[in-house]
Amino acid sequence: MANVTFSAPTLEKDITVYAVAGDNKTLLGVAKQHGVAIPCQCQDGQCGSCLIKVTILDDKRPSGIHLTDKEKVTLSVNGKLTKAQLADAETNDMPPPYRLACQYIVRNEDILVEFSGEPGVE
Ligand code: FES
Repeated sequence: MANVTFSAPTLEKDITVYAVAGDNKTLLGVAKQHGVAIPCQCQDGQCGSCLIKVTILDDKRPSGIHLTDKEKVTLSVNGKLTKAQLADAETNDMPPPYRLACQYIVRNEDILVEFSGEPGVE
Protein backbone atom coordinates (compact mmCIF):
# COMPACT_ATOMS: atom_id res chain seq x y z
CA MET A 1 0.00 0.00 0.00
CA ALA A 2 1.10 3.51 -0.70
CA ASN A 3 -0.38 6.83 0.29
CA VAL A 4 -0.67 9.10 -2.70
CA THR A 5 -1.50 12.73 -1.94
CA PHE A 6 -2.67 14.91 -4.80
CA SER A 7 -2.22 18.65 -4.47
CA ALA A 8 -3.30 21.26 -7.02
CA PRO A 9 -4.85 24.73 -7.11
CA THR A 10 -7.80 23.16 -8.90
CA LEU A 11 -8.59 20.91 -5.92
CA GLU A 12 -10.53 22.29 -2.94
CA LYS A 13 -8.03 20.56 -0.66
CA ASP A 14 -5.31 17.96 -0.91
CA ILE A 15 -6.62 14.45 -1.53
CA THR A 16 -4.86 11.41 -0.11
CA VAL A 17 -5.72 7.99 -1.48
CA TYR A 18 -4.38 4.50 -0.92
CA ALA A 19 -2.88 2.85 -3.93
CA VAL A 20 -2.03 -0.80 -4.19
CA ALA A 21 1.61 -1.06 -5.15
CA GLY A 22 2.34 -3.78 -7.65
CA ASP A 23 -0.92 -3.70 -9.58
CA ASN A 24 0.96 -1.79 -12.29
CA LYS A 25 -1.52 1.03 -12.33
CA THR A 26 -0.18 4.36 -13.53
CA LEU A 27 -0.51 7.43 -11.39
CA LEU A 28 -2.92 8.79 -13.96
CA GLY A 29 -5.03 5.65 -13.54
CA VAL A 30 -5.02 6.03 -9.75
CA ALA A 31 -6.03 9.70 -10.10
CA LYS A 32 -8.89 8.85 -12.45
CA GLN A 33 -10.08 6.06 -10.18
CA HIS A 34 -10.45 8.61 -7.39
CA GLY A 35 -11.88 11.44 -9.45
CA VAL A 36 -8.73 13.56 -9.45
CA ALA A 37 -8.50 15.39 -12.77
CA ILE A 38 -4.89 15.53 -13.88
CA PRO A 39 -4.77 17.08 -17.36
CA CYS A 40 -4.04 14.46 -20.01
CA GLN A 41 -4.34 14.04 -23.72
CA CYS A 42 -2.40 11.23 -25.39
CA GLN A 43 -2.08 8.98 -22.30
CA ASP A 44 0.93 7.54 -24.06
CA GLY A 45 3.89 9.56 -22.83
CA GLN A 46 4.13 11.81 -25.87
CA CYS A 47 2.26 15.08 -25.31
CA GLY A 48 3.56 16.12 -21.88
CA SER A 49 0.17 17.40 -20.72
CA CYS A 50 0.15 15.14 -17.64
CA LEU A 51 3.29 16.72 -16.16
CA ILE A 52 3.48 16.33 -12.39
CA LYS A 53 5.99 16.94 -9.65
CA VAL A 54 6.54 13.96 -7.37
CA THR A 55 8.00 14.22 -3.88
CA ILE A 56 8.75 10.99 -2.04
CA LEU A 57 7.61 11.32 1.55
CA ASP A 58 9.18 8.17 2.99
CA ASP A 59 12.51 8.54 4.74
CA LYS A 60 13.88 5.39 3.14
CA ARG A 61 15.77 5.38 -0.14
CA PRO A 62 13.41 5.81 -3.10
CA SER A 63 12.25 2.59 -4.72
CA GLY A 64 13.91 1.69 -7.97
CA ILE A 65 12.36 3.69 -10.74
CA HIS A 66 11.85 3.16 -14.37
CA LEU A 67 11.42 6.00 -16.81
CA THR A 68 10.00 4.84 -20.08
CA ASP A 69 11.81 5.96 -23.22
CA LYS A 70 8.83 8.14 -24.12
CA GLU A 71 8.94 9.77 -20.69
CA LYS A 72 12.67 10.50 -21.03
CA VAL A 73 12.20 12.13 -24.42
CA THR A 74 9.08 14.13 -23.55
CA LEU A 75 10.47 15.43 -20.25
CA SER A 76 13.80 16.33 -21.87
CA VAL A 77 12.20 18.14 -24.81
CA ASN A 78 10.07 20.16 -22.40
CA GLY A 79 13.05 21.12 -20.24
CA LYS A 80 11.90 19.07 -17.25
CA LEU A 81 14.70 16.50 -17.22
CA THR A 82 18.32 17.59 -17.30
CA LYS A 83 21.09 15.37 -18.60
CA ALA A 84 22.44 15.10 -15.05
CA GLN A 85 19.02 14.01 -13.73
CA LEU A 86 18.69 11.47 -16.53
CA ALA A 87 22.13 10.05 -15.77
CA ASP A 88 21.28 9.89 -12.07
CA ALA A 89 18.05 8.07 -12.86
CA GLU A 90 19.72 5.56 -15.17
CA THR A 91 22.83 4.85 -13.13
CA ASN A 92 21.72 5.42 -9.53
CA ASP A 93 17.96 4.80 -9.71
CA MET A 94 17.37 8.27 -8.30
CA PRO A 95 14.02 9.62 -9.44
CA PRO A 96 13.86 13.06 -11.06
CA PRO A 97 11.28 15.49 -9.62
CA TYR A 98 9.17 15.89 -12.73
CA ARG A 99 7.33 12.94 -14.21
CA LEU A 100 4.48 12.06 -16.52
CA ALA A 101 1.45 10.72 -14.68
CA CYS A 102 0.54 8.42 -17.58
CA GLN A 103 3.96 6.73 -17.37
CA TYR A 104 4.57 6.65 -13.62
CA ILE A 105 3.86 3.30 -11.98
CA VAL A 106 2.94 3.59 -8.31
CA ARG A 107 5.42 1.93 -5.97
CA ASN A 108 5.19 0.96 -2.33
CA GLU A 109 6.09 4.40 -1.02
CA ASP A 110 4.21 7.48 0.08
CA ILE A 111 4.33 10.33 -2.40
CA LEU A 112 3.09 13.88 -2.88
CA VAL A 113 1.90 14.60 -6.40
CA GLU A 114 1.66 18.27 -7.37
CA PHE A 115 0.18 19.59 -10.58
CA SER A 116 -1.19 22.92 -11.72
CA GLY A 117 -4.32 21.80 -13.53
CA GLU A 118 -2.92 23.40 -16.70
CA PRO A 119 -1.77 20.86 -19.32
CA GLY A 120 2.01 20.52 -19.32
CA VAL A 121 2.55 22.98 -16.46
CA GLU A 122 3.66 21.65 -13.08
FE1 FES B 1 0.28 12.74 -22.90
FE2 FES B 1 0.78 11.77 -20.41
S1 FES B 1 -1.14 12.27 -21.31
S2 FES B 1 2.19 12.43 -21.91
